[in-house]
Amino acid sequence: MDLIEAIKSRKSIRGYKSDPVPKEVLKDILEVASRSPSGMNTQPWEFTVVAGEELDRLRKANLDKLASGQTPGMEAPRGGYEGVYRERQVALGIQLFQLMNIAREDREKRTEWMKRGFRFFDAPAAIIISSDRSLGEGAQFDLGAVTQTIALVALNHGLGTCIMGQGIMFPDAVREITGIPESKRITICVTIGYPDGGFPANKVQSEREPIENVTTWCGI
Ligand SMILES: Cc1cc2nc3c(=O)[nH]c(=O)nc-3n(C[C@H](O)[C@H](O)[C@H](O)COP(=O)(O)O)c2cc1C
Repeated sequence: MDLIEAIKSRKSIRGYKSDPVPKEVLKDILEVASRSPSGMNTQPWEFTVVAGEELDRLRKANLDKLASGQTPGMEAPRGGYEGVYRERQVALGIQLFQLMNIAREDREKRTEWMKRGFRFFDAPAAIIISSDRSLGEGAQFDLGAVTQTIALVALNHGLGTCIMGQGIMFPDAVREITGIPESKRITICVTIGYPDGGFPANKVQSEREPIENVTTWCGI
């Protein structure tokens, strides 16, 4: 696949076919993606690939924790969304809810949509990305690079992805099921599978700020 075409066509996929993703394919994606750059070639990323019964256990554990009233949260939080950041977040939510036919006041459907995220969008596999806590905040940049590359390489195999936080917002559950130790910061995960072409939210075309609004030109 052409590089520009891949970058432009990548989008978050939130509805998947149930077909499993072969282990060799997942391994190939990780091998290619590990060519991503990192500070001083430290390669801080660690991948935990979860599928099958273990992913089902994790979906259930997430939903159980939600039902018990536990507050979800990230180990690598982004802080509050205010001003223009909040506006962009709301714009995405409106697009998704329109496509999914979820009315603003329909709490039941909104809750069901939220739960879908905690179920990893029912994807057949998820890649959890973590790094050693000793590396500090700087390593998060490198994790971002490898995560985007995973999403792009996946396209070459006809796979869709969604880089997502919801699935790992109960890190205790993730650790219990996958064995990721406390010494690792669980940063993000990527749901991965063959896209369900009929799933409405997969049609979302998220907006982008015009580049002149976020670029300062110096000497050019
Ligand atoms: C760090 C990060 C966390 C995300 N977490 C979620 C999430 O929890 N749930 C979700 O539906 N999408 C999540 N997304 C997907 C974003 O909403 C999506 O990338 C953004 O709206 C742009 O849309 P696009 O990926 O289709 O281009 C996340 C993306 C990133 C980069």
